[in-house]
Amino acid sequence: MRRVLITGGAGFIGSNFVRLILAEQPDCLLINFDKLTYAGNLENLEGFLNHPNHIFVKGDICDGRTVEDIIDKHKIETIINFAAESHVDRSITGPKVFIETNVIGTLTLLQAACDKKIKKFIQISTDEVYGSLGDTGKFTELMPLSPNSPYSASKASSDHLVAAFGHTFGLNYNITRCSNNYGPYQFPEKMIPLMINNALADKPLPVYGDGLNVRDWIYVEDHCRAIWKVLTEGKTGEVYNIGASSEKTNLEVIKTILKIVGKPESLITFVKDRLGHDKRYAIDSTKTASQLGWQAQIKFEQGIKGTIEWYLKNKKWLTGVTTGSYQQYYQQMYAGR
Ligand code: NAD
Ligand code: TYD
Repeated sequence: MRRVLITGGAGFIGSNFVRLILAEQPDCLLINFDKLTYAGNLENLEGFLNHPNHIFVKGDICDGRTVEDIIDKHKIETIINFAAESHVDRSITGPKVFIETNVIGTLTLLQAACDKKIKKFIQISTDEVYGSLGDTGKFTELMPLSPNSPYSASKASSDHLVAAFGHTFGLNYNITRCSNNYGPYQFPEKMIPLMINNALADKPLPVYGDGLNVRDWIYVEDHCRAIWKVLTEGKTGEVYNIGASSEKTNLEVIKTILKIVGKPESLITFVKDRLGHDKRYAIDSTKTASQLGWQAQIKFEQGIKGTIEWYLKNKKWLTGVTTGSYQQYYQQMYAGR
């Protein structure tokens, strides 16, 4: 039995990872440790909360004692750190919590991992640590980090800490740097679910600046499969870029969404640009493909259709997160236990 501590497993990517692994890897026990911030939602794990290979524990990655207790109690061998503050706009208005969770929290996990002789530590990072590209070129693992937002600066700091713990203390680690994810259970503050939600409600779609910023989109399940590959086959101390070679301008994505849901382009509303808005991201995942034999399977056109269908079928989930009612879920689920 593989015994894995995953942090942030009630968020968007973490919960997709939990669902995938519980469905496909019967020999893996997941201890899911999550603070349940505004972005954490136990409804993302509905149907899996009582799975015999899944134990949910509410808590903060900055709390080293609890992390160490969990490692001891569940004989943890591997840690995958998904937990983070993850939204660039929030990092512009309130950067402090990004440093607390993304930097201090990661440091706390690293110290626990070394003290408890964890066999493998995987840091889930982002392509945003590389900064912004011009019209050509792609991010490779060899590029220097050049983050521009408080969010990406906090993620770059944690990447440096992970590598430093590998170098200094011999921690066996991998860092994954993925491009923009989309898919089921993404909180509707991020661009794709926000635009789907607004389009369905006939509300304006707020496009920052001229809408020509480029992001490189990957379907979340493809990302999760890549993380499993890194967990099982990644070589010590390596960084792996993950992407699906699917660059689009924001306007292209938004027009595609409007077309699929049958709403007019007149809903598009240009608004003030994000401060320091990165122009273009594009990721080169040749190394991950050649060394780990991983490749994205879902094309954007297919993934976006499936994602919109999911949001249409899960209006209750969407209403829960937009009204905030999902935050009572933990109390209801765990009351009296
Ligand atoms: P998310 O915001 O949806 O989820 C984050 C989760 O972490 C939530 O469940 C939250 O409750 C939990 N959390 C926050 N602070 C915590 C703390 N102090 N202790 C314990 N749990 C805490 O984020 P996401 O989009 O699922 O991203 C997951 C990871 O992947 C992040 O590290 C992010 O930087 C990285 N990433 C995201 C994307 C993307 O497009 N969303 C792309 C590349 C990398
Ligand atoms: P986002 O989903 O926040 O991801 P990131 O900033 O981490 O790439 O935003 C994706 C792109 O969409 C980014 O260029 C900013 C833009 N955007 C808008 O134009 N309007 C919005 O309301 C949001 C949330 C994002």
